[in-house]
Amino acid sequence: MKTYLVTGGAGFIGSNFILYMLKKYKDAIKVINVDCLTYAGNLENLKEVEKLDNYKFLKIDICDKEAILEIFETYDIDYVIHFAAESHVDRSIRNPEVFVNTNVLGTLNLLNAAKIAWETDEGFKPGKKYIQVSTDEVYGALEGDEGYFYETTPLDPHSPYSASKTSADLLVKSYVDTYQFPANITRCSNNYGPYQFPEKLIPLVINNALKGEKLPVYGTGKNVRDWLYVEDHCKAIDLVTEKATVGEVYNIGGHNEKKNIEIVKIIIDTLLEMLPADDERRKHLSYDLITYVEDRKGHDFRYAIAPDKIKNDLGWEPETPFSKGIKLTIAWYLENMDWMERVTKGEYQKYYEMMYTTGK
Ligand code: NAD
Ligand code: TYD
Repeated sequence: MKTYLVTGGAGFIGSNFILYMLKKYKDAIKVINVDCLTYAGNLENLKEVEKLDNYKFLKIDICDKEAILEIFETYDIDYVIHFAAESHVDRSIRNPEVFVNTNVLGTLNLLNAAKIAWETDEGFKPGKKYIQVSTDEVYGALEGDEGYFYETTPLDPHSPYSASKTSADLLVKSYVDTYQFPANITRCSNNYGPYQFPEKLIPLVINNALKGEKLPVYGTGKNVRDWLYVEDHCKAIDLVTEKATVGEVYNIGGHNEKKNIEIVKIIIDTLLEMLPADDERRKHLSYDLITYVEDRKGHDFRYAIAPDKIKNDLGWEPETPFSKGIKLTIAWYLENMDWMERVTKGEYQKYYEMMYTTGK
């Protein structure tokens, strides 16, 4: 039985990953979820697995050296799937420090603990693997409509968030190059799907549109992102963990480039299609809600991933077209409005007011 240490498992992608893996492998795997529950961590996401004997939650900060070492002493960890991070670009522009602490020093801490636990005089124990879940943002931005990010594209991050993720990638690479540490790095494009915190574009627009509130579009709305349905991403990570050669880097993309303004309009159109004719929330739902606001500082123009290497080496391809994924996502939010209500209270609400009510 393989034991997975999943960090950041109470966040958006991490919780989708845990739910996907426990559904797929049932009690043939054990999952230890380490998360310190920042504003983005929500244990409600994991309600359906929390009572399972082969699932355990530990409220621990990945920067806590003693606590992380203790996990590796207590459990025979086979795989580390490292999602835990500060993940929002806008927050990183306001407060870079916590991004360096968690994303860089937290990663180093995990690498060290895994190295201590897994290294023997004859090299690393067989069957061990560390997966660094990274981002296409490490490649910087594509300036025009042409071209893609490949694994060989030079690293050129622009935001404090992407700089911290790049630093972490380089630390992982250094462990592979120096110690032959058994790791892979995956770099995915923008994920969307259930349980995404409504500070990111898609859930924010769904939430605001349902409340008849303004839909803030940064700058011209022409910036492009390459959207990947979160379950497709989870499948890719599972495959890389099981099949990839140590040291390889894989880009994971949705082949799904869209301008931000297109995304906003698709969400409005899809909501109008899905909401019953007599639903009150249709009343204010129109393109009139779209509000162009001040652009993000240093806003990367376009991200687009070429997932050719993962297709050729491991046979992975994105399965969910955006037309289907966005309906699944909106349906989930419509069925889980109480989830949205709860996460938009408290800390997030203060942040939201600072960003969108009192200006930047
Ligand atoms: P998220 O913000 O939804 O979740 C992050 C989780 O990490 C939260 O549960 C939070 O509580 C936890 N966490 C933060 N700091 C921690 C710390 N010091 N110790 C322990 N736990 C901590 O993020 P996400 O969108 O699920 O992203 C997961 C990973 O995927 C991140 O590494 C991110 O950089 C990467 N990524 C995300 C996207 C995307 O579109 N969401 C795209 C590319 C890469
Ligand atoms: P986001 O979801 O924050 O992801 P990332 O910055 O990591 O790509 O933003 C996606 C795109 O949407 C990005 O170009 C910024 C833009 N955006 C808006 O136009 N309005 C918003 O309110 C938000 C949150 C993002």
